[in-house]
Amino acid sequence: MSAPKILVTGGAGFIGSHVCVALIAAGLRPVVMDTLVNSDPRSLQRVARITGVEPPLVRGDVRDAVALDRAFAEHGFDAVLHLAGLKAVGQSVSDPIGYYDVNVAGSLALVRAMERAGVRTLIFSSSATVYGSTQRSPIRESAPYAAVNPYGRTKVMVERLLADLARADGRWGIACLRFFNPIGAHESGLLGELPHGPPDNLLPYVSQVAAGERCHVVVHGDDYETPDGTGVRDYVHVMDVAEGHVAALRHATTHRGLLTVNLGTGRGASVLEVISAFERASGRTVAWRVGPRRPGDAPAYWADVQHARDRLGWHARRGLDQMCADSWRWQLGNPRGFDDPDPALPAGFVSAST
Ligand code: UFG
Repeated sequence: MSAPKILVTGGAGFIGSHVCVALIAAGLRPVVMDTLVNSDPRSLQRVARITGVEPPLVRGDVRDAVALDRAFAEHGFDAVLHLAGLKAVGQSVSDPIGYYDVNVAGSLALVRAMERAGVRTLIFSSSATVYGSTQRSPIRESAPYAAVNPYGRTKVMVERLLADLARADGRWGIACLRFFNPIGAHESGLLGELPHGPPDNLLPYVSQVAAGERCHVVVHGDDYETPDGTGVRDYVHVMDVAEGHVAALRHATTHRGLLTVNLGTGRGASVLEVISAFERASGRTVAWRVGPRRPGDAPAYWADVQHARDRLGWHARRGLDQMCADSWRWQLGNPRGFDDPDPALPAGFVSAST
């Protein structure tokens, strides 16, 4: 019997490409559908360098019913991992139509196509942003929705759609994965995050300061009610997140209905703790200055991870030091991203393709 084929929407992106690595390592066959608006197809060549298998790429949009039907007919998927979507909070405020269209209408078009193809196993990339900023940490999955921006509300709407779908039709097996703050890179240094322009997120910014590409990190506020006054988040290694997808897929394949789980470590780290960890990992000094609070930022939140342990048997295995060390290896080996020739592999790392 051949290995199950899995459609990975958004599979060429930061998280999606790492998910492909984890799927292949688990003996599954990912096929990527991606518009490439915020990703690079060369990420899939790097997946091949790590695993020995290059996932086929269907360049297309999940809102395109014809493209979806064609892909389902051609490949005969067993399940779908839906990671495609827009994710910049600020942009979602200025372009709500674009965000609702890609994230909500895109998800609706996808489940319609799945229904037509009779494929009813789906893993959806959601976000801790659905909790908003009012919850006490650690946050359990049963906390109410309180998203505070259009991006977060698109995630809430898709979660609600999927819950209604699972309730209406018992043939569906669905998992919604609420990511906390995925960072890091594949330990090979071949795959990582590739922000277009100045990064919005903390880790790529810190990494570029350590590399000398930017002069200092602006710490967005040091007067929060946290131990050192700076914002606290639950940073989780992207390969742990990727392995969480494999665990969720196993669960959704064997259990019908809806499962919603947090993907985090259960621990918070402050901005200054992240900067210190990065300095240790890189051996470089990371200059920083305190700026004003960033509008819309929550002071502190982290995940309750018990549900993921109980239902998926999954927990994050990699700590903050490893997240920083892996990010730094990626940064050093690929200062211009995939425009750089393939970097040498770290000592001791065995690539499937060499
Ligand atoms: N921060 C800085 N300086 C920077 C960037 C960030 O001090 O240059 C701080 C922020 O204020 C916050 C922390 O670093 O305290 C993390 O900020 P990020 O921008 O890296 O991440 P967020 O927690 O704001 O949001 C991320 C994703 C969202 C997702 C959310 C879920 O960007 O899409 O995690 O937890 F919804």
